[in-house]
Amino acid sequence: MNVFFDSQMDDAKRRQELYRGSVLVYSPSPAALKLCEFARELIEAAFHPHDPRKVHEHMAVEHCVQILADLKPKFIHHARCKELIQRLLAERGCELEKTYFDVPRLRTAFPSNYLSSGIAYAFHPHRDTWYSAPVCQINWWMPVYEIFPENSMAFHPRYWDEVVPNNSNTYNYYAWNRSSRQSAAQHVKTDTREQPRPQASLGPDPQLRVVAQVGSPMLFSAAQLHSTVPNACGVTRYSIDFRTVHLDDVWNKVGAPNIDSAATGTTMHDYIRATDFLHLPEDAVALYHDGTEAEFAPSPSAPPAGTARR
Ligand SMILES: [Fe+2]
Repeated sequence: MNVFFDSQMDDAKRRQELYRGSVLVYSPSPAALKLCEFARELIEAAFHPHDPRKVHEHMAVEHCVQILADLKPKFIHHARCKELIQRLLAERGCELEKTYFDVPRLRTAFPSNYLSSGIAYAFHPHRDTWYSAPVCQINWWMPVYEIFPENSMAFHPRYWDEVVPNNSNTYNYYAWNRSSRQSAAQHVKTDTREQPRPQASLGPDPQLRVVAQVGSPMLFSAAQLHSTVPNACGVTRYSIDFRTVHLDDVWNKVGAPNIDSAATGTTMHDYIRATDFLHLPEDAVALYHDGTEAEFAPSPSAPPAGTARR
């Protein structure tokens, strides 16, 4: 696996690199820092007067889950996030007319013995393609507070081109939106939602943990096998991630190789254009239909209904 720091390559070349398994990391840029600052404002207001990284020392887990159930959607749907992502993409040389993104998620990784299910799900090793993401999807991830190797995320580079037996064939994005996702906040102690996961035990090593600065975006392909590191450092990790697709790659159906995903449905309905926040053209999305779209239900984290499509 190649890791590029502050690469000067243009967006087309960068996508090619990502599609062959590279990871790209950039120094903090003004809009990325602003996005993290905005997240911290919301987080700190929600957990006031506690230090958000230490809430597990001060509050019952059920109370924490209630706070997250309010905080996370507030961040996800905030208009300010969309504006800041637009600026961030411009800072990183994306062609805004052809770049589409989905709403940003605010993720939390609490100390493992406190909360690692439901709304703060500690992701087992997975590829986002197992969750119906297209092979041209690029994930953008950055820390909101300082992170450490013990509360970061990990890549499992060996599996970039090695098949991992998995049950992604049981996952349909539309069915998931209908049922499981809305109930995330109910899964406090354990998580019984059926998710795509490896069907063989994978050795955790070799693994790569990139410990970057606050506001330092890390880009990787949706086909990259990655996981949440079990948080053993006593400090909660807060991170932001969102995903992008480039219109040319959507039309041309290019991206990383799909070596082992059999998920159905598509997340293509979720992305909005970086210029005007309109959805992908319907005929482009239709290229990804697989017959299960009759079940289509808008994602709860997608932009509000009524956002124009074309
Ligand atoms: Fe993921």
